[in-house]
Amino acid sequence: MSREHILKVRGLGIDFGGLTAVNGLDLDVYEGEIVGLIGPNGAGKTTVFNMLTHVYKPSRGEIIFCGENIASKNIVETNKAGIARTFQNIRLFNNLSVLDNVRIGYHNTITYSPLTAVLRLPAFRKQEKEITEKSMELLKILGLGDQAEVIAGNLPYGAQRRLEIARALASGPKLLLLDEPAAGMNPQETGDLMDMIRFVRDHFKISVLLIEHDMKLVMGICERITVLNYGMLLAEGTPEDIQNNPEVIKAYLGE
Ligand SMILES: Nc1ncnc2c1ncn2[C@@H]1O[C@H](COP(=O)(O)OP(=O)(O)OP(=O)(O)O)[C@@H](O)[C@H]1O
Ligand SMILES: [Mg+2]
Repeated sequence: MSREHILKVRGLGIDFGGLTAVNGLDLDVYEGEIVGLIGPNGAGKTTVFNMLTHVYKPSRGEIIFCGENIASKNIVETNKAGIARTFQNIRLFNNLSVLDNVRIGYHNTITYSPLTAVLRLPAFRKQEKEITEKSMELLKILGLGDQAEVIAGNLPYGAQRRLEIARALASGPKLLLLDEPAAGMNPQETGDLMDMIRFVRDHFKISVLLIEHDMKLVMGICERITVLNYGMLLAEGTPEDIQNNPEVIKAYLGE
C-alpha cells in the first residue's frame, strides 16, 4: 500500500534563550492516519504543536505539509492551508453560546464581501444560514447538538474540550492537532471521545495528530506513535512496538 504524506517534519528544533526545547525531530503523518505524540511532562509536545501552527517560529528544520514547505507561513495562513488545533488550556469564547463558538470557526471560509454583510444582502443571509446548519452538524457529531444555546463557559470541562474540536473542524482542516483532548475526562467520556475522533477522521477524511497522557486512548486509537523525551525523538512505531520498547518503558511508560 502506497501512503501519501500529509505532514513530514525533518530536523525540527527550537531554542528559548539557552534552553533547547525541541531538537532534531522527525515526524510523519500519512493521509487518514491517527498518530500519537507522547512523552513525559515538559518533553516538548505542545511546543511541537506551537511550531506546526506557527505560534512559535522554529529555530531549525522543515515542516512539509501536503508537499509544501510551510515554514514561512503565519498562524492564519497555516490554518488556511489546512492545519487546525485545540489547546491544552482550553481556549473558547466563554461568554458566547456553544453554537457561536463553532460559527466563528467558519470565518476563514466566508466569501461574501464586508459590504454584502453590512447591507445584509441575500448572499450574506444564505451563507450565514449554511454556516449555522454546518455548525449544528458538527455539534451533533461531537455530542453537543442539544447544547447549542448554552453559554460555552457553563459547559462541563469534557464538553468544552469537545466544543474546541468542533470549532477546529469548522475551518475545514486536512490535519487536526489535538493537545490532550481527554484531560479531565472520566473513563466513560474518554471512551466516547475515542469513538468521536475515529468518526471525525473517517467522515471528514482527515488525519489526526494527538498529544495525550491517557495511554488507554493513545494505544486504543493511534495507528502509530512518536515518543518525545527531553525534546528529542525517543522512539517511533506501532502501539505494540512502543509498549514493548525498553527505552520508552524506562523513560516514560514504566514511571
Ligand atoms: N515560550 C516558552 N519560553 C520558554 N520556555 C518554553 C516556552 N514554551 C515551552 N517552553 C519550555 O519547553 C519545554 C517543553 O514544554 P512543552 O509545554 O512543550 O512540554 P509538553 O511536552 O507539552 O509537557 P506537558 O505534558 O506538561 O504538557 C519545557 O521545558 C517548557 O518550560
Ligand atoms: Mg503540553
